[in-house]
Amino acid sequence: MRKPKRTAKATATPAPKSAKAPDKKKINSVTLSYGGKTLELPVMHASEGPSVIDVRKLYAETGMFTYDPGFTSTASCDSKITYIDGDAGILRHRGYSIDELAFKSDFMETSYLLLEGELPNKKQKAKFVHDITMHTMLHEQILNVFRGFRRDSHPMAVMCGVVGALSAFYHDSTDINDPHQRMVASYRMIAKMPTIAALAYKYSLGQPFVYPRNELTYAENFLHMCFSVPAEEYKVNPILARAMDRIFILHADHEQNASTSTVRLAGSSEANPFACIAAGIASLWGPSHGGANEAALNMLQSIGTVENIKPFIDRAKDKNDHSKLMGFGHRVYKNYDPRATVMRKTCHEVLGVLGIKHDPLLQIAMELEKIALSDRYFIDRQLYPNVDFYSGIIERALGFPPSMFTVIFAVARTVGWVAQWNEMITDPGKKIGRPRQLYQGANERKYVPIAARK
Ligand code: SDX
Repeated sequence: MRKPKRTAKATATPAPKSAKAPDKKKINSVTLSYGGKTLELPVMHASEGPSVIDVRKLYAETGMFTYDPGFTSTASCDSKITYIDGDAGILRHRGYSIDELAFKSDFMETSYLLLEGELPNKKQKAKFVHDITMHTMLHEQILNVFRGFRRDSHPMAVMCGVVGALSAFYHDSTDINDPHQRMVASYRMIAKMPTIAALAYKYSLGQPFVYPRNELTYAENFLHMCFSVPAEEYKVNPILARAMDRIFILHADHEQNASTSTVRLAGSSEANPFACIAAGIASLWGPSHGGANEAALNMLQSIGTVENIKPFIDRAKDKNDHSKLMGFGHRVYKNYDPRATVMRKTCHEVLGVLGIKHDPLLQIAMELEKIALSDRYFIDRQLYPNVDFYSGIIERALGFPPSMFTVIFAVARTVGWVAQWNEMITDPGKKIGRPRQLYQGANERKYVPIAARK
């Protein structure tokens, strides 16, 4: 059956430079004129990046809504956590650039920074690492939740189910109005996600569960829980652990992306933190979002050889064809995703350490990138490799199957979700998120009894 023609959709083309980010010093309000009336709307200025037009009174004053499916021009909140400039390829967490954090910091320190807003001193870092480490084990009964799944379940399905079930075990950290319980829930989520992810992987293999070890670092522990077996000694390779830690840093947070917005929206109803993170995991799973890393590797494998790249690119450009270049394009980055640059460097490092001189998938990825970036279709649409384009090649080299790539993304992004959730919950102006709509359905009509229907 022919694939349905892809309907043309109102896609957001980047505004011309002149139309973007007006000079903030000059504009403090905008005037809307409609039906012979005018409405002055205040402009709120960012510490960095675009200002916003405050439309909160628009409906009350005009009886009209704004319309912005996909939120291409909408700020859903104000936040101090992460700043992205898509044109300049900038990503900063609490003001620190992702390049500096990826090469000079580590995931625990970056997690503290995302949660607390400042880099920790030695004492603060030691306490944070200790407190997280002390939460890495799971309530033993949770292991039974895993056993309810088929062995061949996708590990992301297991993650959604098990994380959602955590609120059934940790009642003492579900009161979102208690700062102590919020902190305990936050630490539990960050600490337990690697354990849950590793257990999902072991369960899929039919291998025994491996418990965390308190003397290992966060990344070492994750590799140990995934790859050690009771039958022999397992030594974590420190360089691979460093690469794993860097992958966690690169995925930690990313402003108001789909899964983070899902966590915020779920949290706005005052749902418990575990349920909110489970909602974020579900949203991340989609191939347009966090599922792209698994899809990108499967794409490279299906392309198979450098010779097959061109026909595949032609299909990705064909409006009648559903295929896309997975790991390419981004709602915000209209330049190179800075994380992809770090990821590509790390790719070469890891393959070098593993003695993999020639990785055919990396060859295909680099050739595909070269061809795509010289093709008008991708240039005109400002489509560049994103964080998901290279991550799968590294994670496969580390020993993970593609089905675990989005799980790894979820492990890392948990600290971002938790930091954003805390920021939303403690916002004095917090309200339940409840968007409206442009109704296009039937007007009022009378009920017709079935006997009278044709
Ligand atoms: C992540 O938001 C975040 O911050 C997400 C993330 C994070 O850290 O949280 O960065 C993680 O999700 C990265 C993105 C991973 N997804 C993929 O790699 C999947 C492939 N990419 C696309 O699906 C797409 O680029 C999106 C979803 C990422 C962005 O979509 P947009 O911003 O809604 O753009 P669009 O779909 O409207 O595309 C604009 C045009 C369209 O063509 P026209 O209709 O204008 O002719 O570009 C085309 C699209 O068809 N296009 C692609 C393409 N991506 C966009 N064509 C071929 N291959 C692609 N990958």
